[in-house]
Amino acid sequence: MKIAVPKESRADESRVALTPEMVKKLRAKGFEIGLEQDAGLAAGFDDAAYQEAGAQILSPDEAWSGELVIKLRKPSLEEAGRLREGAVLICHLEPCTQDEVIRALLAKNIKAIAMERIPRISRAQSMDSLSSQSNIAGYRAVIEAAAHYGRFLPLMMTSAGSAKPARLVVLGAGVAGLQAIATARRLGADVHAYDVRPETQEQIESLGAKAIVLDLGESGSGEGGYAKELSAEAKAKQQQLLADELAKAHIIITTALIPCRPAPTLITEEVVQRMRAGSVIIDLAAANGGNCPLTEADKVVVKHGVTLVGHTNYPAMVAADASNFYAGNIKNLLEIMVEKGENGLLLKDLDQDEITKAAQLRAE
Ligand SMILES: NC(=O)c1ccc[n+]([C@@H]2O[C@H](COP(=O)([O-])OP(=O)(O)OC[C@H]3O[C@@H](n4cnc5c(N)ncnc54)[C@H](O)[C@@H]3O)[C@@H](O)[C@H]2O)c1
Repeated sequence: MKIAVPKESRADESRVALTPEMVKKLRAKGFEIGLEQDAGLAAGFDDAAYQEAGAQILSPDEAWSGELVIKLRKPSLEEAGRLREGAVLICHLEPCTQDEVIRALLAKNIKAIAMERIPRISRAQSMDSLSSQSNIAGYRAVIEAAAHYGRFLPLMMTSAGSAKPARLVVLGAGVAGLQAIATARRLGADVHAYDVRPETQEQIESLGAKAIVLDLGESGSGEGGYAKELSAEAKAKQQQLLADELAKAHIIITTALIPCRPAPTLITEEVVQRMRAGSVIIDLAAANGGNCPLTEADKVVVKHGVTLVGHTNYPAMVAADASNFYAGNIKNLLEIMVEKGENGLLLKDLDQDEITKAAQLRAE
């Protein structure tokens, strides 16, 4: 079975869906692999490295007309049009809205696997790209915060004077939030964290941070480990109870998301006004509307003396490792999708396995 990997075309994307390391592993399993010319260059993998790993270098037309096409980001409408009828496509598809690209894929009978829909069960953990990429985002968010903050993160005692550790608050202790806590702790910040799911308290404390506990009168735990949307009353209470904690913070890294819903507002303008000048807010929810209404997606802005960072693609800033983790997710997924036939690997029926069944794109 032949895999084709087109080059990512979005301006903010430097990752690639397969890396030389994973090409080697997939070749050993019996796959043939081709990548569009320079597909991995922005992530630090040149064509020679792929060729050495056993891949072929393809023209754009060859890459898009493959029988099994693997990408990282959702294709554009024009790219969707280049896929062959009935091809298999694996990538992120942003499937919450059935837009024109999704409709075009369905109309062409493309068998598409949306990486966002890989179910969050133990067996699928190694295929879960939301987790692998959120983990990187959590790490990179702290690096970004440290770069924008005009003070130290750790306690510093020198002969020229001393500096107090930064008070850093993480909102949302999911995959990205927990990695942000761990990274900020390693850098010596005084870390506090909050999540609407009560079960996160233990995880926050196990990483050496202080858990912020609020009584909202209802639980925020939803299905599959995710949060659910709070009632209007609980949302207002949450904003009010969080305000004092947040106003004291020097750095806030906010990651709160609810699947297929706009991100909840956790940091009001009033809180930003109360924060010390020079403080930093890294809003990882910027692509979904932000956890702070002052955040502007893909921009760094200063409001009321506070720097608000709205980058929407942190994993692409750690492109080599992010690509390798994503490629690892893809390799693990491909392994359950094929079986050995007389003349090589054959694709199994996608409905046969609960993972590919759940992740398959369907008309809604
Ligand atoms: N394979 C698996 O079993 C698997 C894999 C990954 C994640 N999970 C589970 O899913 C959880 C969440 O995953 P995620 O990080 O992708 O979630 P996510 O990116 O959807 O959300 C980030 C965090 O924001 C929190 N949040 C939402 N609304 C909030 C609010 N109003 N106030 C404060 N916090 C709020 C959520 O509870 C979550 O922890 C994980 O912690 C884990 O328990 C399980």
